[in-house]
Amino acid sequence: MEGNKLRLDKFLCELKVGTRSQVKKELKQGFVKVNGETVTEPERKVDVEKDQVVYKGRTLSYRKYAYYMLNKPAGVVSSTKDNTCLTVAELLKDTGCGGLFPVGRLDKDTEGLLIMTNDGSLAHRLLSPRKHVDKVYEAELEEELSKEAVKDLESGVDIGEDRPTLPAKVELLGGKRIRLTITEGKFHQVKRMMRAVRNGVVSLRRTSMGGLMLDESLRPGEYRELSEEEIAVLQKGGMP
Ligand code: URA
Repeated sequence: MEGNKLRLDKFLCELKVGTRSQVKKELKQGFVKVNGETVTEPERKVDVEKDQVVYKGRTLSYRKYAYYMLNKPAGVVSSTKDNTCLTVAELLKDTGCGGLFPVGRLDKDTEGLLIMTNDGSLAHRLLSPRKHVDKVYEAELEEELSKEAVKDLESGVDIGEDRPTLPAKVELLGGKRIRLTITEGKFHQVKRMMRAVRNGVVSLRRTSMGGLMLDESLRPGEYRELSEEEIAVLQKGGMP
């Protein structure tokens, strides 16, 4: 891309209108308008930010970066490469979008919301310890949580770091199930917090991060692109 300019056929391919040769046919048939004018030349340059490109009546908006939510299944590692285990990046290889990486890590046995993107600055903001981005987990515990444990978690517990954990929000979901909202992302944080109150995690699932909720229609292993609104939520979630 030169500045913000891209060949029209490449632009249409990147927006998944079709392959390069399909796109050329669509252009020839007059299905594409740029700023209200039908354009048939594939080599025509478009400004991806300023020009309005309409394909069969649908306005196409160009995204510099890709954003997906994955419902991470257990048994898959939160990395892009691994010599022995399946990685979350491999689960998204059919997107055809290279360079996707997970925003933070979930343990191999943890399920749930994992944001996958190639937008390094958004990832950096969401993961910055100074931003205190909310992360919501649902956990099945070994024991019912006592009132005292809830209080301790709400005020901060010692997990062996320099300082106690920041106050967490605890919701009792019945039996041994809880919903926990934390604003830090220390290694194995939820498991270590439960250990600090003499309990244990049987299963763990993240349902939200930075205001973005896991789409419950996604089964473990499934993913989808984020909507413009969801991206805006994340941009706000990671704001200073
Ligand atoms: N806390 C944990 O202990 N594990 C995770 O995967 C995420 C948060």
